[in-house]
Amino acid sequence: MTHNPKRYTVTAALPYANGPVHIGHLAGVYLPADIYARYLRLQNRDVKFICGSDEHGVPITIRAKKEGITPQQAVDKYHELIRDSFRDFNISFDVYDRTSSKIHAETAGDFFKKLHAEGKFIEQTTQQYYDEKAQQFLADRYIVGTCPKCGNENAYGDQCEACGTSLNATDLINPKSTLSGAVPVMRETKHWYLPLNEYEPWLREWIVEGHKSDWKSNVYGQCKSWIDQGLQPRAVTRDLDWGVPVPVEGAEGKVLYVWFDAPIGYISATKALTDDWEKYWKDEETKLVHFIGKDNIVFHCIIFPSMLKAHGDYILPDNVPANEFLNLEGEKISTSRNWAVWLHEYLQDFEGKADVLRYVLCANAPETKDNDFTWKDYQARNNSELLSILGNFINRAVVLTQKYYEGDVPARGELTDYDKTVLADLEGMPLVISTYIERYRFRDALSELMNLARLGNKYLADTEPWKLIKTDAERVKTIMNIALQISASLSILMEPFLPASATKLRTMLNMPQGQWADAGAADLLQPGHTIGKPELLFEKVEDAAVEAQVQKLLDTKKANEMANAVVEPAKEDITFEDFTKLDIRVGTILEAEKVAKTKKLLKLKVDTGIDQRTVVSGIAEFFKPEDIVGQQVSILVNLAPREIKGITSQGMILMAENADGSLAFVQPSKEIRNGGTVS
Ligand code: MF3
Ligand code: ZN
Repeated sequence: MTHNPKRYTVTAALPYANGPVHIGHLAGVYLPADIYARYLRLQNRDVKFICGSDEHGVPITIRAKKEGITPQQAVDKYHELIRDSFRDFNISFDVYDRTSSKIHAETAGDFFKKLHAEGKFIEQTTQQYYDEKAQQFLADRYIVGTCPKCGNENAYGDQCEACGTSLNATDLINPKSTLSGAVPVMRETKHWYLPLNEYEPWLREWIVEGHKSDWKSNVYGQCKSWIDQGLQPRAVTRDLDWGVPVPVEGAEGKVLYVWFDAPIGYISATKALTDDWEKYWKDEETKLVHFIGKDNIVFHCIIFPSMLKAHGDYILPDNVPANEFLNLEGEKISTSRNWAVWLHEYLQDFEGKADVLRYVLCANAPETKDNDFTWKDYQARNNSELLSILGNFINRAVVLTQKYYEGDVPARGELTDYDKTVLADLEGMPLVISTYIERYRFRDALSELMNLARLGNKYLADTEPWKLIKTDAERVKTIMNIALQISASLSILMEPFLPASATKLRTMLNMPQGQWADAGAADLLQPGHTIGKPELLFEKVEDAAVEAQVQKLLDTKKANEMANAVVEPAKEDITFEDFTKLDIRVGTILEAEKVAKTKKLLKLKVDTGIDQRTVVSGIAEFFKPEDIVGQQVSILVNLAPREIKGITSQGMILMAENADGSLAFVQPSKEIRNGGTVS
């Protein structure tokens, strides 16, 4: 890549439209991408910042099924929610498109067709799990079974979430379809594969040799290890009824693999944005940068580039600055476990404070390793950084200018050595910050920005214009002029990071939107220019506000653990005759007492209508004996008697189990005579 590209195409990973976006998304992908795009615009560069919703693939169909809606309804719902969250956080996409659009189906379909026509795919027939009841092939996530490593009975076909092992569906013991509960069978299916192995020498040259020094080490390292392990042909089609149909003959019922169609979504979105789209994708003088999270590295560095290479018309990414993951209060963020700070919910609780979260997430971005978000840190960074450093400095500069000069910028007099050093530091700042940004080191860039605010704060604290005003009013003019020049530069330099606050500050200073090149100058505000009224940039975050957030996390965690708990797959079918063998009756508990030296057992005396009998039941953790006497229950009366702790138990009380393992009686909804049958 030339050092001075003609234009930039900046992409941010298309989020799956299967749930709202959270702080991990923002910190890992969208915030750094936005800072970069805003910075480039301030540099007057030609840049298109591209994103949209990823609306295909199994993650979508699973979500839809869970919510009892169609995949289309699911993506419609989440596309809007996600789009609005990004808008509210001032993520400045030039386009936020979606992969269910017509233009995308065409673009992705044509891409496939070209590669197909040119013989770039290989066709392979393999055996895959098929659900005869649901009449469809099963994606890995639709198969559960026993993990061969740890014995967890609810491991998925691609991973066991209990022990973390990544699996193949064929590794599972006793596999079952989550669609119908049926035992899946093997069936032949034909798919198209991109022979990644053929691209290996080229990938090695392009990445391993070519990007050793300019790609982040986490990205480079992952790529190198993939390439070193040897690449295999990768299927680019799937047996699924949701996605872009495979546009060639003999592919009925098949769709493009979501990781084939989604990255092409960057191209479709650019098409939707401008008729001039080709120069952003096909001109070697365009610099293409993909912002992603680390779980997307292989797709953006190996698979998509191989697709682009196979196609032949497109440029390749110049860089893929992937981030690591952000954790939340010490735990992995998880959509399914609802362990997250959702962006739309944050803004409901902290109205007008998008910049605060942007600041905290950038200051603590997981650029080189996983990092942890805590509400305590959020509060500390707001109160002791944004508020006491940046906010405090700006406030002093503006308030004192209003107070001493009715808002008119005073002229500088003779400069002291200290003044000169401060102005020199100011002048050097834009280059320091931009150098970090261009190397995708946004934390360091932000920390330098704060150093400029610190410089201003210290300058005022050292020179004490509020004291000097009584003895040396002339000197105060110089001091305030310099403080205002620093403020003016801050309003430009902070724009990529804190866009809403930058706008507020420009209004306060009565300044037009500047260019990056203007920052650092000592004459951004001319003497005599009248600034506006002071306005607070930041407010204190109180203890109660963050405590409420921590509590909310604990609550939602509990609630969602219940809601998200895996429901066991259905057991095998039984006949009606099997069922009628069970003799279940309504009975009433007459007596209850704990079984000595056990934790879980209660000894019950139950009137079954037929007789009064003793039943030992493992419910002591959930019921106090005195509370259950008199309650009606369902009891299986023809279960062969069993000896439990020396007591003969005659029958079994039917219990319903909740997600947290707690138990409830299965009771008639109105009083039924004892002995009434349950069927
Ligand atoms: N939807 C994917 C994810 O959230 C990212 C897709 S990026 C794209 O992990 F390049 F495929 F669009
Ligand atoms: Zn396991």
